[in-house]
Amino acid sequence: MRIGVLTGGGDAPGLNAAIRAVVRRSMQYGYEVIGIKRGWAGLLDMDYVRLNRDAVSGILPKGGTMLGTSRTNPFSNEVDQKKLVENIGKLGLDVIVSIGGDDTQSVSSKLSDLGFKVVGIPKTIDNDLYGTDRTFGFDTAVSIATEAIDRIHTTAESHQRTIVVEVMGRHAGWIALYSGLAGGADVILIPEEPFDVDEVCSMVKKRYEEGRKFAVVVVAEGAVPKGIPDFFTRSAEKDAFGHVRLGGIGEWLEKEIEKRTGIETRSVVLGHVQRGGSPTAFDRVLATRFGLAAVDAVKQGNLNVMVSLQGEKITTIPIKEAVKANRIVPEDMRWLAKAFSP
Ligand code: F6P
Repeated sequence: MRIGVLTGGGDAPGLNAAIRAVVRRSMQYGYEVIGIKRGWAGLLDMDYVRLNRDAVSGILPKGGTMLGTSRTNPFSNEVDQKKLVENIGKLGLDVIVSIGGDDTQSVSSKLSDLGFKVVGIPKTIDNDLYGTDRTFGFDTAVSIATEAIDRIHTTAESHQRTIVVEVMGRHAGWIALYSGLAGGADVILIPEEPFDVDEVCSMVKKRYEEGRKFAVVVVAEGAVPKGIPDFFTRSAEKDAFGHVRLGGIGEWLEKEIEKRTGIETRSVVLGHVQRGGSPTAFDRVLATRFGLAAVDAVKQGNLNVMVSLQGEKITTIPIKEAVKANRIVPEDMRWLAKAFSP
């Protein structure tokens, strides 16, 4: 059995833990593992490395991915699609284990339609992959954002300022909701609920009137004000999966709050800091369990699936299920974003 493993899309803490688990479990079963570099791009360029126990030694606590990653979409044109199919054959891969979010798994799903065998492992700091209760990377991102919000509190309080913290989260507000709750933010804004800027300003003002002369607003990059249907974007250019680069909502809010309330306001974008560095113990364990389960699925002939966390259990779902929608914050949890609003 020859397994190809790759990491695609935005990196997330825990990728190395997952790669290590895939390799270590494969060694136990006597399988060969080929590490494809830079996501699907490595399959197009035949850029790969043989992975054995030594190759993955010491990578468990490291951030990023030892294989590199990219947002390459091999199905974006026919030439690449043909090359992809040919190269999987040339490498003699029996199964591809794709570690990634919805874009990466959508490529795996298409490969399964073409008759290839795949097993997906869900990762993204956004926690927005359908069919799993959790993706690895999320816990680390929330911890980093929470620590940042704690730090923002002390400087906001010292200067009697309002500070807007923009966190990642394209379609789903999981990071904003969790870090906002954990960090005690006064206002939490998520993409799932368009917000009223007047209401945000009233909340900030009320807090000052109540004698707490500073405020912290946490906003997901994908949050939108009512009446402005489009995301705030850094550039109109789209990646291979059709995504624009989000960003700018924090700065926009900073200006609006200051203009409408007269309160001195600043904004900070946490950006890629949320994706960097060592994974939390939770993410290491989850990524490890996913990696082991992916190879076990191969062993059991349970293919064209994505491993998934359901409650405390690791199980599998058809890969087609996993890519059918984003997992956004459900309606019955959204009230939490307002639970501590002034
Ligand atoms: O997909 C995860 C994510 O971190 C999103 O939250 C964010 O919008 C995007 O990646 C940023 O992508 P890039 O690394 O390409 O700037």
